Amino acid sequence: MPLETADITKLSVEPGELPASMAAWVIRKEREGEPIDAFQIEEVDVPEPGPFEVTVRVMAAGVNYNNVWAAMGKPVSVFDYGDHPEFGHHIGGSDASGIVWKVGQGVTRWQHGDEVVIHCNQASYEDVEVHGLDPLAAPSQRIWGYETTWGSFAQFTRVQAQQLLRKPPALSWDEAASYGLVYFTAYRMLIDRCALKAGDRVLVWGAAGGLGVFATQLAAAAGAQSVGVVSSPEKGALVEQLGATGWIDRSEFAGMMRTGTETPEEERARQDEARRFSKRVQEILGAAPDIVFEHVGKATFPTSVFVVKPFGKVVICAGTSGYDVDFDVRYLWMRQKEIIGSHFANAYECQRANELIEQHLIRPVLWRTFGFDGVAEAHQLMKENRHLGKIAILVGAPLEGAGRTAEGPGAIRAEVGI
Ligand SMILES: NC(=O)c1ccc[n+]([C@@H]2O[C@H](COP(=O)([O-])OP(=O)(O)OC[C@H]3O[C@@H](n4cnc5c(N)ncnc54)[C@H](OP(=O)(O)O)[C@@H]3O)[C@@H](O)[C@H]2O)c1
Repeated sequence: MPLETADITKLSVEPGELPASMAAWVIRKEREGEPIDAFQIEEVDVPEPGPFEVTVRVMAAGVNYNNVWAAMGKPVSVFDYGDHPEFGHHIGGSDASGIVWKVGQGVTRWQHGDEVVIHCNQASYEDVEVHGLDPLAAPSQRIWGYETTWGSFAQFTRVQAQQLLRKPPALSWDEAASYGLVYFTAYRMLIDRCALKAGDRVLVWGAAGGLGVFATQLAAAAGAQSVGVVSSPEKGALVEQLGATGWIDRSEFAGMMRTGTETPEEERARQDEARRFSKRVQEILGAAPDIVFEHVGKATFPTSVFVVKPFGKVVICAGTSGYDVDFDVRYLWMRQKEIIGSHFANAYECQRANELIEQHLIRPVLWRTFGFDGVAEAHQLMKENRHLGKIAILVGAPLEGAGRTAEGPGAIRAEVGI
């Protein structure tokens, strides 16, 4: 039965007390497919916080590509792992801003009423990797709202207390919900995994996308030069506004994208296109890049390895165009290049990155804020690459722009798109 969402912003309980049920966008195994059909609004039980957990009232949520994958059930169905077999549903959403509503046993740092943003890494406190290596190395490591249910596309979400960060006061609820997953991922990739420094040159694929807008800003903030690859002049203008040295429209180099089905002659032609692209990159940056920021995967990876300078680094966190990557490994070993895998960020990195937002040194880039009804549509737009920057979803917040408690520049609005 369709659920009435007009009153989604109203609650009949005070902080410290949870209602029995809530509205949530739910994916179920039998509905996996196009996001527009896979997501449906249902009434579900509100999760109680366990020890060292917190139940947060979601004021706004952020849309990420991971729940496009969850909707489609590709490359694996989320129902096969995490806590999904226990609950039988997937409530997606790996970004949120909200209010601490009920704290579990053992939580001392956070109180009812605290305004927070949520980072999406979860790991068990009992895994030794959490205490000496990195939570991302823990066997229990999961991305909340993707590999777990109880994500942010619902009135309440259940998270580990270590996932909470202060909400930057100069941001509205929707702005604050829009940046965490992609920004913290880009921060770890460039700052910790690649030791980005002033004077470096960086090539950023998808520079007007979720990860790319933050990679571009981080490069500028660090005193590095960057060239952003985009698919339209409007996106190029955005990337320049964010501090890139220049941009390249990838449609001018369509022949360099690897499909994996090339004949030897076609592969030679593709490599010629990659050479032409490399020349353009060097014209803009003055020399070959020290770092290539990768997430496109199959289509671009051979070019990334080719383009990066000798001893340079290709840092990769995804394979949107395909994860079965192949490339000419001679360019790697002969020129002593490095390939670095990276996945989200630990709580300490998230906190440091969040401080740069509080200091207005890095700003969220928000394209659109949708009402709670827009979750399925937002994911469909993202799947079709018809978005620009980030999409936020209002949940408890009554209006776009509500929730600012301090003066500040707020988010950069990405004005162009579909
Ligand atoms: N491992 C992690 O921790 C982690 C974290 C965040 C995201 N991810 C993954 O990273 C990927 C990107 O995420 P996102 O939020 O940045 O997505 P996004 O907002 O859709 O941006 C990706 C950008 O990549 C470009 N692109 C897409 N297909 C391309 C192709 N075939 N060739 C060249 N460029 C292409 C597009 O830009 P143009 O059309 O303008 O070129 C697009 O704007 C997703 O697969 C996501 O799941 C992983």
